[in-house]
Amino acid sequence: YKLPVVRNEPNLSYAPGSKERQALQDAIAELESAAPFDVPAFVGGKEVRLDTERSSQPMPHNKKQDLCTFAASTPDLASEAIKHALAAQPEWESMPFNDRAAIFLRAADLISTKYRAKICAATMLGQGKNVWQAEIDAAAELIDFFRFGAAQVEQLYTQQPTENSSGTWNRVEYRPLEGFVFAVTPFNFTAISGNLVGAPALVGNVLVWKPSPMATYSSWLVLQILLEAGLPKNVIQFLPTPNGDATISLVDRVLDHRMFAGLHFTGSTHVFRHLWKKIGNNIDKYLSYPRVVGETGGKNFQLVHPSADVRAAAIGAIRGAFEYQGQKCSALSRLYVAKSLWDGDFKETLLSEVAKISQGSVSEFQHFMGPVISQASYDKCLSYVEKAKQAGGEVLAGGSGDDSTGFFVQPTVILTKDPLSPTMTDEIFGPVLTVYVYEDAKFEETCSLIDTTTTYALTGCIFSNDRAATVKATALLRYSAGNYYINDKSTGAVVGQQPFGGARGSGTNDKAGSPSFFTRWANPRSIKETF
Ligand code: ALA
Repeated sequence: YKLPVVRNEPNLSYAPGSKERQALQDAIAELESAAPFDVPAFVGGKEVRLDTERSSQPMPHNKKQDLCTFAASTPDLASEAIKHALAAQPEWESMPFNDRAAIFLRAADLISTKYRAKICAATMLGQGKNVWQAEIDAAAELIDFFRFGAAQVEQLYTQQPTENSSGTWNRVEYRPLEGFVFAVTPFNFTAISGNLVGAPALVGNVLVWKPSPMATYSSWLVLQILLEAGLPKNVIQFLPTPNGDATISLVDRVLDHRMFAGLHFTGSTHVFRHLWKKIGNNIDKYLSYPRVVGETGGKNFQLVHPSADVRAAAIGAIRGAFEYQGQKCSALSRLYVAKSLWDGDFKETLLSEVAKISQGSVSEFQHFMGPVISQASYDKCLSYVEKAKQAGGEVLAGGSGDDSTGFFVQPTVILTKDPLSPTMTDEIFGPVLTVYVYEDAKFEETCSLIDTTTTYALTGCIFSNDRAATVKATALLRYSAGNYYINDKSTGAVVGQQPFGGARGSGTNDKAGSPSFFTRWANPRSIKETF
């Protein structure tokens, strides 16, 4: 049977007085009053509560309140988890694809209806998203990943040889990897976490999942929803653990296993490279060459040509840089503006719009911005403001913060004359935007500058109403961004519409949200049968 035709899940508006707004407010109140939740590990189909050191996931807007607590998962528990995952593999991979797909379609429906408010509330309270950012992530994108994922795997399976010489039947069987996949998932998108486990599982793989400690609760909810949708209990083993030594020893144990078959990672470039080196050092231990798929850092750009619509470009920059406090991997952090526009209306438009940004608790629905994820992130943002000043930068907006109740960093705009100053080159992962003003005549040199300033290549955009200039820049910036937008902001890729992923230091560019993504989780066998 063919799977149902899929469409992107529409975003709800949460307008005052709407049913969804009321449901979300109720879910927030319920989570706030019941927190902190005790999140267990899930191994061998059972909740496991170890007696190890406890950690917590605080609410970033209200740092004294924990959303959940959890015990550090140990290396021995990881070994146990791998054993159960491997034992579950034969049954999971031999389940007819339609039955596997139906689990993910059902999970998508459960999120769309029954759990939408709860998973959005968990993402707001635990990961510091405002209502609209939670909706596009934990509801719409997660639903899309599951629904489109099922359709894209169906498409993969139909890729078959077209030629059969007389008396033969050529075909390709798409099996999962031989072993288990290790998913290491981030704090910043509940949808990405779901996709990092969902995509390999759809192809019939079994997984060991280490969620970000800063997204423990929403990750646990995703697993609960998948189980309610019918996922067999041992397909995904869940190992929450705090950062630091506990994670290092757990990861070492997992990557030491002969049946380790793939890493599915989203997080920092530094950690990804570290894991890749460990995998490289262990290569002789493995039965297979592991698939290593990762989406890592970025230092995303916006280029504004002299022909651009000033207001569209300024609003694009603000949305790109400050939505979710600049913590999307796709967030804008370096802005290149033509001098004629900057000296004209651009500077004033940008700064007057930044001045209107409201920031506050995520459970008050009116704010455009909330907190950054942690004290470490708060400190890093402010330390980069100091570095920018020391490098001669001028702070045009923001530049400070308030961490008395939560981790609130002001939307910050820095003007620099040095295009290689620290805030132009280093990933900060917070609401710090640096502007470099270029001479109009140096448009092409500026493209080269953008291309060579960092070794990241995740997202970028150009605002221009001069088609020839756009074409030229698009050619010059060919390898500078895996996701490139013309007259739109650098964030907001939609599943099935803009396959997402970066190259160079930003990742393996396997394009989440597209059919090619699933080839990384398949282990095809070509069969020639002669009659
Ligand atoms: N996929 C997310 C975006 O494009 C990260 O903003």
